[in-house]
Amino acid sequence: MANKKSAVPFNVTPEQEQKLNQALQELKGTRGALMPALQKAQEIFGYLPIEVQQRVALGLDIPLEEVYGVSTFYSQFTLNPKGQYKISVCLGTACYVKGSGSLYEALKEKLGIDGGECTEDGKFSLDACRCIGACGLAPVLTINDDVYGRLIVDDLDDILAKYQN
Ligand code: FES
Repeated sequence: MANKKSAVPFNVTPEQEQKLNQALQELKGTRGALMPALQKAQEIFGYLPIEVQQRVALGLDIPLEEVYGVSTFYSQFTLNPKGQYKISVCLGTACYVKGSGSLYEALKEKLGIDGGECTEDGKFSLDACRCIGACGLAPVLTINDDVYGRLIVDDLDDILAKYQN
């Protein structure tokens, strides 16, 4: 699979811009405005690239460093876009002992991206997750709402192919 890793260009629609401005106006000056502002921004854009962080900093009149600090500290926030298909490999103990680490590494190589990144065409993003409560199927990965279990590395090409077209 020849997907290359790269930065997906940030695009903003007037509607997104307006929604964000409205949220920032409502929150500006209130205590603890930054967390809800970032949650709202992530809801609108799906992630928090520097362009969004700058808008939040300006809109709330707080330093960009502070916005960046909070965006990177909390795992609920992501600085990278997610793909149309979000692959999540369980690295919980039961899955890990059954080889999910190898699945994760193989996916990085096949997709040409690191964990937390998205392919250039916006199709796949790859993340690791903790136990999703399906240990009986270990090792497990999910793609959006689909769950795949008892996997070996050789299964991956067939699974990815299902989402290619
Ligand atoms: S450890 Fe992976 S589902 Fe529980």
